[in-house]
Amino acid sequence: MAHRELLHRHRSVLPKWLALYYEEPIEIASAHGRRVTDREGRTYLDFFGGILTNSIGYDVAEISDAVRAQIDTGVLHSSTLYLIESQVELAEKIAQRSGIPDAKVFFTNSGTEANETALMLATQYRRSGQVLALRNSYHGRAFATVAITGIRGWSASELSPIRVSWVHGGYRYRSPFKDLSDADYVKACVADLREVIETGTAGDVACMIVEPIQGVGGFASPPDGLFREFKKVLDEYGILLVSDEVQTGWGRTGEHFWGIQAHDVVPDAMTFAKGLGNGLAIGGVVARAELMDCLRANSISTFGGNPISTAGALATLNYLLDHDLQANAAKLGNRLIHGLRAVAATHPVVGDVRGKGLMLALELVGPAGEPHPAAATALLEEARRRGLLVGKGGLHGNVIRLAPPMTLTEDEADEALVILAEAIEAVSA
Ligand SMILES: Cc1ncc(COP(=O)(O)O)c(C=O)c1O
Repeated sequence: MAHRELLHRHRSVLPKWLALYYEEPIEIASAHGRRVTDREGRTYLDFFGGILTNSIGYDVAEISDAVRAQIDTGVLHSSTLYLIESQVELAEKIAQRSGIPDAKVFFTNSGTEANETALMLATQYRRSGQVLALRNSYHGRAFATVAITGIRGWSASELSPIRVSWVHGGYRYRSPFKDLSDADYVKACVADLREVIETGTAGDVACMIVEPIQGVGGFASPPDGLFREFKKVLDEYGILLVSDEVQTGWGRTGEHFWGIQAHDVVPDAMTFAKGLGNGLAIGGVVARAELMDCLRANSISTFGGNPISTAGALATLNYLLDHDLQANAAKLGNRLIHGLRAVAATHPVVGDVRGKGLMLALELVGPAGEPHPAAATALLEEARRRGLLVGKGGLHGNVIRLAPPMTLTEDEADEALVILAEAIEAVSA
């Protein structure tokens, strides 16, 4: 079997900590729309989109044409030493849509690098190495970003150039404040933030970084308005607010273009990656000019904002806006969450259904409400057996993540609901 042979070669030469999904891992060999076909010819509806990265789906002519046109110029790369029109145009569009006044943009190749850049800017601007982060967060895999990642299973190193203090708020389902009303939950988290600043820091903290919906953390989302209340406290100390929009950007949450907008607050900087390139390697930071320009030394990313990635990203962004995919995410997200809640009502293995737009999660629990990671692993397999790819996550590995391309259709949403209902039934048995 093609997959078995490839798995053997993979295991021999790639790191053992590079996890693969499924007891019998697959290679996605071709794809179109929201469907992918594996190397052995089996087709699946894709509800994880390469970890929320194939934001528009596969084989989109507008994006392929834009990339091909750039390839046809003969220039795959020139470097940031020269002008790149698609890079400038993309930066203009992102700056204008950011809502950040007088915004500037720096492009990277990944979300990790985007967050490393945001941390570099904030720590230089504030001349402080202290950072506030949320428990249950994930921000990347380099030394500073792994340090602000609040999930033990993703904390691959304890080495860090920054000093981090942890704040409550992102993951409500298992929070000590979980039984409070929305308003009281916000109050409790704000009081915690104030206490952490007063007791765990020297006061002159550089920034707080938050994911509006915690991605790897299992699409955990605090009540709307929490980050506005946080910002009021941060402003008292001059602490900057950075929103990590790597998963929540580009309208995926349905109600807003950026996840942080649900909190009615404008951050000092936002980081982005994943969905912008629909699979091409691109990330970046958008920040107030004063913050972006504060570095005193040169700094470049050789590949960041290269002509291929920026041409493809521009085509992706234009497609997303021209087809109002944010509205589609809102509409189909609504359809999905109602369907999922109906199934959850009769299946106690689903302890929580949460998320927004096309960023939805099921937290699977045992009889006493304890995390049930084995059920999540089983559900992943049951869904795949029925032709649906979904993701996994959460602090305890017991959360199923659903994040299809934003071009999803009603029929596909209904097809996924049927499969998920059967898969949930199978793991409940
Ligand atoms: C919210 C968030 N930030 C940052 C990252 C890191 O991005 P990358 O894997 O592109 O380095 C991720 C990746 O999953 C993410 O979900």
